[in-house]
Amino acid sequence: MVMALAGSAIGLGNIWRFPYMVGQHGGAAFILVYVLCVAFIALPIFFAESIIGKSSGSDTFGAMEICAPGRGWKNTGYIAIAASFVVVSFYSVVGGWSVDYLVRSCAGGFSFSGIEEAASLFGRMNSSLAEPLLGMTAFLGITALILACGVDKGIELFSKITMPLLFLLIVFIVVRSAMLPGASAGMDYLLKPDFSKLDGKAIAAALGQAFFSLSLGVGAILTYSSYMRKEENILYSGIWSAVFDTIFALLAGFAIMPAVFASGLAPGAGPSLVFETLPVIFSQMGPVIPVVFFFSILIAALTSSISMMEVVVSWLVDQKKLPRRRAAMLAFTGTWCLGALCAVFPKVFAVCDFTTSNILMMFGAFVFALVVGWKMPKADVRTQFTNYGTSRGGKVAFPTVYFLIKYIAPVMIVAIALTNLF
Ligand code: PHE
Repeated sequence: MVMALAGSAIGLGNIWRFPYMVGQHGGAAFILVYVLCVAFIALPIFFAESIIGKSSGSDTFGAMEICAPGRGWKNTGYIAIAASFVVVSFYSVVGGWSVDYLVRSCAGGFSFSGIEEAASLFGRMNSSLAEPLLGMTAFLGITALILACGVDKGIELFSKITMPLLFLLIVFIVVRSAMLPGASAGMDYLLKPDFSKLDGKAIAAALGQAFFSLSLGVGAILTYSSYMRKEENILYSGIWSAVFDTIFALLAGFAIMPAVFASGLAPGAGPSLVFETLPVIFSQMGPVIPVVFFFSILIAALTSSISMMEVVVSWLVDQKKLPRRRAAMLAFTGTWCLGALCAVFPKVFAVCDFTTSNILMMFGAFVFALVVGWKMPKADVRTQFTNYGTSRGGKVAFPTVYFLIKYIAPVMIVAIALTNLF
C-alpha cells in the first residue's frame, strides 16, 4: 500500500501546482513555510486518515460511522466525498493538458525556433475549445476505466517504473534549467527568503498546498488505508510518502523556476506557468525526452486521480450498493460535467482549485484530526498506530504524533483559516 499512497500523493500537485504556488507567493519564504506545514500539520493528518481508514476498513462515509458515531460526524463524510468530486473535476483539466502535450511531443512538436514561440504553445492549445475538452475527456475516461476494472497490479507496476524515471528526468531538467542563461535569478528566488512577501494568504496557500500534495482532507488516504494489510505500518508509510512527495515538489520547483526567470516569464503567472515553461526547456533537448517526460507525468497524474475518484466510487459501491462499473460510469459522468466547465471557463477552474485546497481540504483535515484526537478512544488510536504494539518506531513516535493530531494540527488549521479570512 505504500506505493499506492505515494502514488496518490505524487502527481500534478508536485509538478504543476507547487511551482505555480511558489511563484505566486514569493519563492523561498513560501517553501520554508510549506515544509513546516508538511512536517507539523499535514503529516499528522496523514496519520490520522490512515488510522481512521485502517481501523475501520471502510469507505470514508462508513469509516466516519464506525470511528465517530453520531449524526453530525457522519454527515461530514459527505463533505469529503464532495471535495474529492470537485478535485477530480478540475484536476482532470490539467491531466488533459498533459495528454495534449504528450500527443504533441509524440508528433515531434517540441522543437521551436525561439523562446517566444516555445512559451506561447499553451495559449495556442487553450484558444481552441476542442483540445482541452478532448484531453480532459481522455484523462477522465482512462481514470474511470481503470476504476471500473478494479485498481489492480497494472497501474502499480506502471508507476513503479515511471516514478523513478520521472525522478531522474526531473533531476536532469534541474541541471539543464540551471544552465540556461539568466537562470541564477531563479535560483536566488528559490533560495533567498524574502519574508516581507509572506502574508496570511501565502501561509494559508502553503498549508492548502501541503494538504493538496499529500492528498489530504478528501478521504483519499483514508480510503487507501482501509485496504492496508494488518502488518502494514502507518508510521513508515506516512513518512515515506511525505518525504518522497516533498522531494518531488522541491525538485519540480528547481526545474521550473530558473527557466521561468531565464525566459523572462512572470513567476506569478498562475496555473499556466509550468506548461509555458516546459516547452522552453524541452526545445533544446531533442524529441525523445519530452515524450518520456509527459508519459511519466501522465502516469503520476493518473495514480492520483484514481485515488480521488476511488473515494466517490467506493462510496457508491459500499453505501449505495451500486455495482463497481455503474459506480465508475456515474462518477465519470458527474465529474465530466464539472470538468468541462472548468476546461472552458478559467474562472470556474480557479474557484474549484482555490475552494478545494483552501476550504474543503482544510475542513476535512480538521474533522479527521478531531475524530482521531477527541472522538476515538486513545487506546484504539495507539493500537492502530503501533500495529498492536509490535512497531517499535510507532511506540516511540506515538506521544508526539498524538499531541500533534490532538492539539497542534486542529489549532493551526483554525488559526490559519481565520487569518486567511480576515
Ligand atoms: N496529491 C495529488 C497530487 O499531488 C492530488 C490529490 C489531491 C490526490 C487529493 C488525491 C486527493 O497531485
